[in-house]
Amino acid sequence: MGVCGHLVVALLFFAAAVVAAADPDDEQCLTHLSESLEDPLKNLQNWTKSTFANPCQGFTSFLQGATCNNGRIYKLSLPNLSLKGTISPYISNCTNLQALDLSSNSLAGPIPPDLQYLVNLAVLNLSSNRLSGSIPQQLALCAYLNVIDLHENHLSGPIPQQLGLLVRLSVFDVSNNKLSGPIPASLSNRSGNLARFNASSYEGNKDLYGYPLAPMKRRGLSIVAIVGIGLGSGLVSLVLSFTAVCIWLRISEQKLENEEGKISQLMPDY
Ligand SMILES: *[C@@H]1O[C@H](CO)[C@@H](O)[C@H](O)[C@H]1NC(C)=O
Ligand SMILES: *[C@@H]1O[C@H](CO)[C@@H](O)[C@H](O)[C@H]1NC(C)=O
Ligand SMILES: *[C@@H]1O[C@H](CO)[C@@H](O)[C@H](O)[C@H]1NC(C)=O
Ligand SMILES: *[C@@H]1O[C@H](CO)[C@@H](O)[C@H](O)[C@H]1NC(C)=O
Ligand SMILES: *[C@@H]1O[C@H](CO)[C@@H](O)[C@H](O)[C@H]1NC(C)=O
Ligand SMILES: *[C@@H]1O[C@H](CO)[C@@H](O)[C@H](O)[C@H]1NC(C)=O
Repeated sequence: MGVCGHLVVALLFFAAAVVAAADPDDEQCLTHLSESLEDPLKNLQNWTKSTFANPCQGFTSFLQGATCNNGRIYKLSLPNLSLKGTISPYISNCTNLQALDLSSNSLAGPIPPDLQYLVNLAVLNLSSNRLSGSIPQQLALCAYLNVIDLHENHLSGPIPQQLGLLVRLSVFDVSNNKLSGPIPASLSNRSGNLARFNASSYEGNKDLYGYPLAPMKRRGLSIVAIVGIGLGSGLVSLVLSFTAVCIWLRISEQKLENEEGKISQLMPDY
């Protein structure tokens, strides 16, 4: 092969690299995400079909909030943009994603369990939205997760035990939701050198209990309830005995009257 041959081969490689930069999975991911998100203040710049086909060139991104690495999106950061709508499950098609920050918006709907396919995900920040439903246990399959911040949403149900398997987890915040049930021991205790999480990660959930929060509440038997029951039953027995006494008095009075009547009947009239 001559110099020309080498040049042609090199050009072909270069062309292949450029073509590979337009990733069909990222395109699917962005197309579906832009359909599921609502952007009432038109904050998302360049979030148009033409950009989704080619959001990255090497390390340069043409899409607001996206960071690129080798032609793939590896970070999506769209906090505090007044976004509404939901998180499309197709976000899982952005398979190189390492950080997803959609915090401080007004997103509703569930956290898609499909996030499990983001096997490189290290940071998940969906805090301060209106997300509902349960925390998907499938998040435990994102083995590199070291930040899960879901504080201030409307999430309900228990905290999945499986999240305790995430050995790299260093920030975990589910405070101010509607979670219930016991806090998994694997997420509250200090095990080995791994710092686990204190009460500030859990507070603001009415029905969550166990260390590091208070133990399970005995339902309906709070101090107020106990005092209430005491006072209530006291009052009831007071009323009952009062009534009994009244009835008894009434009966004896009647007897007395009857007897008086009998007596008066026996007495001769003068
Ligand atoms: C939008 O795209 C244009 C060109 O495609 C680029 O110059 C600009 O920086 C992009 N804007 C953002 C916010 O990335
Ligand atoms: C969120 O955005 C609003 C205006 O768009 C701004 O005033 C506010 O400081 C931002 N908050 C944060 C935490 O960045
Ligand atoms: C894209 O995401 C959807 C929803 O999770 C999934 O059904 C589909 O298989 C994904 N496509 C690819 C190519 O990974
Ligand atoms: C998540 O985002 C909020 C702001 O939108 C920020 O205050 C918080 O520190 C972030 N969480 C982490 C763990 O970085
Ligand atoms: C976690 O720690 C608390 C208090 O330090 C202790 O009572 C509890 O038994 C521990 N649980 C596990 C599973 O180690
Ligand atoms: C709880 O942990 C966080 C960080 O993990 C720390 O900033 C905070 O001071 C701790 N709070 C208490 C009461 O120990």
